[in-house]
Amino acid sequence: MTEDAELLAHYVERGGEPWNVSLEASWLDYELRAWVKPRLPVKWPVAACNIGIGVGLWDDWLGHELGASITSIDADPEVCRRFRLRQARERHPNPAIVRCFDASTGSLGVGRFDVITIVGSTLAEAVDRVALEARALAALATGGVLLIADVGNREPPPDADELRRLGEIWVAFRERRA
Ligand SMILES: C[S@@+](CC[C@H](N)C(=O)[O-])C[C@H]1O[C@@H](n2cnc3c(N)ncnc32)[C@H](O)[C@@H]1O
Repeated sequence: MTEDAELLAHYVERGGEPWNVSLEASWLDYELRAWVKPRLPVKWPVAACNIGIGVGLWDDWLGHELGASITSIDADPEVCRRFRLRQARERHPNPAIVRCFDASTGSLGVGRFDVITIVGSTLAEAVDRVALEARALAALATGGVLLIADVGNREPPPDADELRRLGEIWVAFRERRA
């Protein structure tokens, strides 16, 4: 399959997924962005990281919002490859630096990022969510912030700062400073 054919298949699959065009998905996008936006650092240059790319729309937004190339990490090599390809073809003004590894075991570095985000189903999917969070915290620079918006777990974490809910969908927000 050519890269163009692969990307077309990706867009078609993404657009045909009922969840992606649902009211709940739009609500969730709004809630995540509205909570994260005022918590983003205002310093320049800014070192930012997102863990868990998925289809990459969050990473697209974060790069636009910060006006910077963020570091995007995902454990799935196909996800990483397609995301790189899509951002390049869409000419994202600040394409992400894509790293492919399991962030609960691989090295995120120490004292490196001003902001790290973990949003959506990433934590729910992680095999070891405690290790993932610990590594993310250790990777923050002094004064840096870890922004977690946890979706899709059976039980909301007891230490959530804020909980929002639409029907069956809830999101638990946590903000942790280095
Ligand atoms: C379904 S996506 C959702 C994430 C995206 N931020 C969003 O809200 O659309 C979750 C992604 O997290 C990745 N992931 C799960 N555990 C991970 C880990 N320990 N390290 C890196 N990536 C992980 C999965 O490969 C998957 O691509």
